[in-house]
Amino acid sequence: MSELLTGIGELLTNDPERPKIADAAVVVEGETIAWVGEASQAPAADRRTFLQGRAMLPGWVDSHTHLVFAGDRSAEFGARMAGESYAAGGIGVTTGATRAASDATLTALVGDRVHEAVKGGTTYLETKTGYGLTVEEEARAARIAAASVDEVSFLGAHLVPRGDDGEPVDAEEYVDLVCGPMLEAVRPYVSWADVFCEEGAFTPEQSRRVLEACRDAGLGLRVHGNQLGESGGVALAVELGAASVDHVNFVSDVDVDALAGADTVATVLPACDLSTRAPLAPARRLLDAGATVAIASNCNPGTSYTSSMNFCVGTAVLQMGLTIVEAVRAATWGGARALRREVARDGAPAVGSITVGARADLHVLDAPAAIHLAYRPGMPLTWGVWRAGQQVVA
Ligand code: NIG
Repeated sequence: MSELLTGIGELLTNDPERPKIADAAVVVEGETIAWVGEASQAPAADRRTFLQGRAMLPGWVDSHTHLVFAGDRSAEFGARMAGESYAAGGIGVTTGATRAASDATLTALVGDRVHEAVKGGTTYLETKTGYGLTVEEEARAARIAAASVDEVSFLGAHLVPRGDDGEPVDAEEYVDLVCGPMLEAVRPYVSWADVFCEEGAFTPEQSRRVLEACRDAGLGLRVHGNQLGESGGVALAVELGAASVDHVNFVSDVDVDALAGADTVATVLPACDLSTRAPLAPARRLLDAGATVAIASNCNPGTSYTSSMNFCVGTAVLQMGLTIVEAVRAATWGGARALRREVARDGAPAVGSITVGARADLHVLDAPAAIHLAYRPGMPLTWGVWRAGQQVVA
């Protein structure tokens, strides 16, 4: 079964040869894209959908979320808006609420969040564990995540949890647990390891131990780094060949140069920066230096309770100095690169671009051009979404 989508006002492809096509058409054959070009030259197909001049982009690839949680931290957010600063300790509050939730509740919560993300144009989604922080609870989070999203990251090293006496357990002993029994328990469900390398969470030495153990177990690496200060996370991520280092709010010239010369993607999280009143990550500076930049939502209850990639992309244009083409590319191809899915791998087609052979993940806006995402911020511009060739939002 093939479908010709025609009448596309502006098509953004992420194809370096032809990044933007006006008056375009796309043919979808099964799960993948079979043809891309000008509408006047489009081949026939079994079915024809006329998009009346609307813009089409690749579906968002959201490469950083924390969807497996229960509970609410709006009071903490309110205090922050009244002048408090963000500290990692709030993770413990969500850990308590998450442990108390049944499997059925947690599964339903994750399902609702995935549904919300898809309604907003997201077609490929990573999520993390990290609110369980015991062997059993991390394994449960990984299992629930694996049933609901495309890629799962093990974030046992999110926070040193508190013991029965209410005090944080010994950090080195906790790292031993993460590197040993916890890693073994989550291993069947995850393909990535992540670590929160920051003051108040894990030191660079502890983070290294976790990342090396996970790498030896066959996992790809990602790092939460340089969110609250110059934590050493960027340097560690680059040294260990991590696929991505995320947050990057506080980076030195040395960090920027290291990212520019590395395969490690710098993932910026605009909604999180606003919600924590952090200095915005220097996406413009990173791009100008030659680094690969991704944009992700970081949907989580503490620092960024939104999965709206439309909002993140609009913010990157309005406040981070990116052009709309750069921002869309970062939130699609960039996210795919951060997950090493920008090319076909393990028998699965590439995601994050509208090119022949890529997965047919398409996002149609109720607007003639992608710039409307920043021009009309906050408006419900997602009109239609196709995931692997199937229309999932109409
Ligand atoms: O990416 N920074 C660490 N982890 C999350 C926040 C988690 C929380 O506060 O619940 C983040 O921002």
